[in-house]
Amino acid sequence: MKQQLEQIRLNGLRALDEAQSLAALEELRVKLLGKKGELTAVLKTMGKLSPEERPVMGQLANSVRADMEQKLEQRKAQLDAAALEAKLAAEAIDVTIPGEPVTLGHQHPMNQVLQEIKDIFVGLGYQVVDGPEVELAQYNFTKLNIEEGHPSRDRSDTFYFTDDDSLLLRTQTSPMQIRAMENTKPPICILAPGRVYRKDEADATHSPMFHQIEGLVVDEGITMGDLKGALVSLMKRIYGEDAVMRFRPHHFPFTEPSCEMDMQCHKCHGTGEVDGQVCSTCHGEGWIELLGAGMVHPKVLEGCGIDPSKYSGFAFGMGLERMAMGRMRINDLRLIFDNDVRFLNQF
Ligand code: DAH
Repeated sequence: MKQQLEQIRLNGLRALDEAQSLAALEELRVKLLGKKGELTAVLKTMGKLSPEERPVMGQLANSVRADMEQKLEQRKAQLDAAALEAKLAAEAIDVTIPGEPVTLGHQHPMNQVLQEIKDIFVGLGYQVVDGPEVELAQYNFTKLNIEEGHPSRDRSDTFYFTDDDSLLLRTQTSPMQIRAMENTKPPICILAPGRVYRKDEADATHSPMFHQIEGLVVDEGITMGDLKGALVSLMKRIYGEDAVMRFRPHHFPFTEPSCEMDMQCHKCHGTGEVDGQVCSTCHGEGWIELLGAGMVHPKVLEGCGIDPSKYSGFAFGMGLERMAMGRMRINDLRLIFDNDVRFLNQF
């Protein structure tokens, strides 16, 4: 029996050592230590032993069982650790593999120019304000001294919401002048950029939606000299110190006197010709129109409760797309709104 037990121990320990999986280990446990296992089978024959031999064999059998149990635990721990190791290896993330490059966007060219213009005016003490795109005809036209019947109020030019033509998509940012003057007392010094809408077909220089930047300064003793100073310093900052500009008389119902500001064409340098051909940028004019401006009409001031005998002011309105096109040498307005990344990536 002793030999039998030693054999079980020897074979058992070796088999346990060689078990390659937890399932194989469980099978061995049943085979070696279970109720119908080898050890139990030997113990069942103990009855045949002499009383002297029985405790000796009993002790030996216990030590065989203890050895095998210990080996079982040890091997189980080893297999557990190996399984964990394999799982971790399978799920491992290799942080040394180079990542996929992330393509970063950037500001739209028009927003870049808007930001530049805002920065310049904020530096001059202007406050940037925002206003409604759905506007009352009162603000878009009437209070700006644009009377009923004026061509710009025509339904073929303006998007109206109501049958009585009282509510519309603003056609200009100038209504922000009225809102500013009604809401604050002078001194007023604001910049109001935003979207405006007109019934225009889209072409190289037109879009039914575009952007304007309105400026308004009202205080005692404001003159046309202040207007010129502000606008010339803006254009020099945007187009360079040697940019050539001119002011040209014009008419706007809400300013008196009124003017337009032009910049000498950067392509033909004012000659209107490039290589004997009509300059395509200014269409032979030699000048590029930048904005409308003027001294706020006394009727407009009065309508907003500001005494024109005490206060005066200047206002201007410029097209942002036009500024961006000049600044970035873009020759078709539609490119600005198409959002083709091949175009946008150039800026
Ligand atoms: N709102 C005018 C337009 O859309 C531009 C303009 C002209 C604005 C003169 C002004 C101004 O503030 O004083 O054509």
